[in-house]
Amino acid sequence: MAEQRAQWGSRLGFILAAAGSAVGLGNIWKFPYITGENGGGWFVLIYLMCIAFVGLPIMMAEILIGRTAQNSPVGAFRTLSRPGSPWLGVGWLGVAAAFVILSYYSVVAGWAMHYTWISLTETFTGKSPEQIGDTFDALFESPKLNLFWHTLFMAITIGIVMAGVRRGLELCAKILMPTLFLLLLVLFLYATTTDGFGKAFTFIFAPNAEKLTPAGVLEALGHSFFTLSLGMGAMITYGSYLKREDDLVAASITVSVLDTTVALLACLMLFPIIFTVGLEPAAGPGLVFISIPIAFAQMPGGALLAPTFFVLLTFAALTSAISLLEVAVSYFIDERGWHRVKATLVCGGSILVIGIPSALSGGTKLFGESFQSLTKYLHVNEGKGFNWFDFFDYVATNWMLPLGGLGIALFAAWRVGAKAREEGFKAGTKFAKLYWGWVLLLRFVVPIAVLLVFLNAIGVLQRLGLTGNGP
Ligand code: TRP
Repeated sequence: MAEQRAQWGSRLGFILAAAGSAVGLGNIWKFPYITGENGGGWFVLIYLMCIAFVGLPIMMAEILIGRTAQNSPVGAFRTLSRPGSPWLGVGWLGVAAAFVILSYYSVVAGWAMHYTWISLTETFTGKSPEQIGDTFDALFESPKLNLFWHTLFMAITIGIVMAGVRRGLELCAKILMPTLFLLLLVLFLYATTTDGFGKAFTFIFAPNAEKLTPAGVLEALGHSFFTLSLGMGAMITYGSYLKREDDLVAASITVSVLDTTVALLACLMLFPIIFTVGLEPAAGPGLVFISIPIAFAQMPGGALLAPTFFVLLTFAALTSAISLLEVAVSYFIDERGWHRVKATLVCGGSILVIGIPSALSGGTKLFGESFQSLTKYLHVNEGKGFNWFDFFDYVATNWMLPLGGLGIALFAAWRVGAKAREEGFKAGTKFAKLYWGWVLLLRFVVPIAVLLVFLNAIGVLQRLGLTGNGP
């Protein structure tokens, strides 16, 4: 191809874009609620260990594959193995996962936008908990609202990805990420002044193993994976826009630390608010969309805090969505020679359409109840089946990401040539000493860990009576 391959404008730009991919709904919506459900304490500690010993090595592997091959996932596996190799399947799986994940991720991102809007126009202040619960049900069940916000969110994502690596992804990350950190800091500082802060701090950090189960450990492991955007080649794609001599070890560490900091700060701002108004930390997925608005409705300054929080959530979701779309787009640019504009419109447009059933899952029989009775035959979710939205989430996080992550770890550890691997890892880094530690983790610890997550997620461990939960 005559056109030169796109590259990041600066190291900081890459780090912010990669952090933007990692920091998302996973940090601000999911991590707090699974921490709540697992009782905090030990769960948080185990999560931190999973990030350091499983997530971080895989992130390094992904960036190494992309940066060495200077190619998006499918092409990267070909360049580093051979044409027609079965390893290419891992790349294909990643591209497919991008379509699946973004299609429903965008629906949830749409909820964050809707909440931003109503917190500004109607405000939650003065509403009763029941009214706020009804607000969520009304949104969840409304085909019109879901379709509107899903479409708007996809349109914005498409617009940014279309502008390219430097003028789209990088520029956007440079504006949104510092804003996100600032908003989070403001909310966190506010939380430190509330009565619930001490209690929340103890809840999150004091060693408490009471509620921790083997299933909880595997949940921490699986989440360390999702929160760092691993397992589908997003970091391969972002790494492919790096120069060969850039330090990938320091970059991976920085991104992981940023991601973890945001997840912990999110807990440290949400739980004090929850405790101050006497709500339950184990509220599940409704924590952010129901409990938090209820809390803001009763707090001084809540009318300002609520929109701040939902803008934060929207920005976090947007930079992640951009990375998901970029994986699909880069495939069509690199492998099919498409122009970026065409690739973005076709991929983004398809994802918009594929997301429609998810947007309608709460409000129509077709994609809600009827689809659910169909999936019952798959014996998933304790035989209850899933609506379309939950089904996509289930397939992506339980099957596609762990399988992709396993493939990536095995590929980087065993298949990539020893010389390319060692030189790639050591290029431009002060951390060359960590090389063997990384290889050993990647060869043995990571595959076993990922395999356990996978077996748990698809219910094998449960059937063997080893853990309590499963689909
Ligand atoms: N990491 C993001 C989050 O925490 C989600 C995400 C973006 C993702 N890109 C990804 C997850 C790629 C897996 C793979 O919300």
